[in-house]
Amino acid sequence: ALIDKGNHRHFMQKEIYEQPVVVAQTLSSYLRPVEEQVALPDLGFDLSRIGRVAIVACGTASYVGAIGKYWIEQLARVPVEVDVASEFRYREPVLGPDMLGLVISQSGETADTLAALRHMKAEGVTVAGIINVPTSSMAREVDLLLPTHAGPEIGVASTKAFTCQLAVMAALAVNLARARGRLNPAEEAEIVRQLAEVPAAMNAALAHDAEIEAMAPTIAGARDVLYLGRGPDYPLALEGALKLKEISYIHAEGYAAGEMKHGPIALIDDQVPVVVIAPSGPLFDKTVSNMQEVRARGGKVVLISDADGLAQAGDGLLASIEMPRVHPLIAPLVYAVPVQLLAYHVAVAKGTDVDQPRNLAKSVTVE
Ligand code: G6P
Repeated sequence: ALIDKGNHRHFMQKEIYEQPVVVAQTLSSYLRPVEEQVALPDLGFDLSRIGRVAIVACGTASYVGAIGKYWIEQLARVPVEVDVASEFRYREPVLGPDMLGLVISQSGETADTLAALRHMKAEGVTVAGIINVPTSSMAREVDLLLPTHAGPEIGVASTKAFTCQLAVMAALAVNLARARGRLNPAEEAEIVRQLAEVPAAMNAALAHDAEIEAMAPTIAGARDVLYLGRGPDYPLALEGALKLKEISYIHAEGYAAGEMKHGPIALIDDQVPVVVIAPSGPLFDKTVSNMQEVRARGGKVVLISDADGLAQAGDGLLASIEMPRVHPLIAPLVYAVPVQLLAYHVAVAKGTDVDQPRNLAKSVTVE
């Protein structure tokens, strides 16, 4: 059967494990490895005339938008605004003909996102959609459909749809950058090579499953958990906190690592695990200081980083999870895997209904 848990205990676990395959599928429809190019489907309009991008989505999909803002602004130098759909329409956003609207949705039916899409179109904005269900309302109404090819997602907590949306977002960022003359062929080829390595890196990340399962009971007892990240890994910290809240019912917050000292540090004591999502790189030093601030207050750090990062961080961690070395651009795609596994195993340790968490719906079709 198509919709079957196979050997997995939950759909969520199955969907986490499917990611190397479905992300490869999604990437293969946007990458031309032979030409070393990232190609979007025929757009019917000229990306070089886009002066800004407005991204609108809900929940997990909105964090794809937030990561996309880092990517698009860095690579294409086009300003990006990101809104949750329930805010977008009512804040009277300033729209214009040089704008590309972009909605992101797994179901393609979320009422607030659909309303935002209709609002933008009514105002004359061209709207693209990163959407998983090709027969959905949003898929039918967008000017440009960018499909995700994740396959049906059954677990209420989104996992494979998230990483497939990121893969499409990366393709869009590269295309915008190229259209605006910000990327030469060698740079584009390098990004294609990095993206093509993502499925293998995800497999390497999945190999840490047993280790993450072993640390889950420690975290399952916590009342609050903090997630910290910088740059494109900051929205991933928000997603990590959302995943944990949704399925384990533990209060969790995601924060920009450097912003912790402006508030959440007050929460930290020896009862608060802090998950730090930080590939090594130019800003890693600063994240190490943020971790020291946590440790000095007795907080327990779980560090997700690569070998260089883990070596630089030293000891005194509650736990560490070693990711393969990846380009910082694609790190959120790979680091999503341990973040999802941690939420999953903590929820299993707590005995919650992982695939059907209380009070949540897979698709929210009311405003
Ligand atoms: C619901 C789900 C979330 C999802 C959000 C947006 O709240 O529980 O997992 O991220 O809707 O759904 P969409 O289908 O628009 O991506």
